[in-house]
Amino acid sequence: MQRAKSTLPRVYVTRRVPPEGLRILNESGQVQYELWDSDDPVPRQELLKRVRGVDGLVCVLTEKIDAELLDAAGPNLRVLSTMSVGYDHLSLDELKKRGIRVGYTPDVLTDAVAELTVALLLTTSRRLIEATHEAKTGGWGTWRTMWLCGYELANSTVGILGLGRIGVAIAERLKPFKVKKFIYTDVAPRPELASMIQAEYVSMEELAKQSDFLAICCAFTPETKEICNKKLFSQMKNTSVFINTSRGGVVNQEDLYEALSSGQIAAAGLDVTTPEPLPTDHPLFTLKNCVILPHVASASYSTRNAMSALAANNLLAGLSGEPMPKELKL
Ligand code: DGY
Repeated sequence: MQRAKSTLPRVYVTRRVPPEGLRILNESGQVQYELWDSDDPVPRQELLKRVRGVDGLVCVLTEKIDAELLDAAGPNLRVLSTMSVGYDHLSLDELKKRGIRVGYTPDVLTDAVAELTVALLLTTSRRLIEATHEAKTGGWGTWRTMWLCGYELANSTVGILGLGRIGVAIAERLKPFKVKKFIYTDVAPRPELASMIQAEYVSMEELAKQSDFLAICCAFTPETKEICNKKLFSQMKNTSVFINTSRGGVVNQEDLYEALSSGQIAAAGLDVTTPEPLPTDHPLFTLKNCVILPHVASASYSTRNAMSALAANNLLAGLSGEPMPKELKL
């Protein structure tokens, strides 16, 4: 906890954030902040107490910023800065109603997330987790002609659900693997982004039917809640690989389990689930054709530092009434 002059705006930081963000706050001399100095989330009741009277709040994606919390903070709160590109943990209506400005961290994590998505896709499609397990546990017999065969990217069609910066960055990385065609769907065509990767706009149904690899990159909103469900999986090829690095809530996990266990689709790679952490006895963990990562897409040292720096700069700009480097339009 750092204390500065009592006249400075008061800020609560809900988690131990990477050093770059803290350095910026410390050196700014513009705020006094209190930090929940732990890698684990601040308990809700504690959070409700700590935010009382603050001018600014820095949070991460595990904190639910809703009416209860905003009421607990009170009328001084004028800036919320989340260290995430996703903002489904924020009640935007409540923030807007109270005139609270919101900063978030797009762009700085695009490369890391795209990189991890490609890694997860290859791990899933070429069955790398199964392969290392077999090698370690005595399953590696003689070289066999069809053992541990998977699906390759060369000559494939890659579908993107929700084309934004991250979808484009994924496609750019996959192109050198000789992908034949990129297709995408979204609420409307996005010609500028699509032209960067020569992607064709198709309907949701065509996306499901044509994709050999389907990457989910959309934001989690009421409209996209469980958009990946029985209907979508039933339209996919049984050789298709499903990859989700957006939010767990866009997938109906029971339907996904059914699609994977019945062979309706070939495999799934998930960096995000509902809930997080996914309980270790969850049925999805029993499937060999499902690779589950613990929400680590943006977890590189440089990216997490850049996210914390942007979150700090958004906060400082917001508190001084200046344009934020990345402000969410409410
Ligand atoms: C985000 O920022 O929303 C990612 O899910 C975690 O980096």
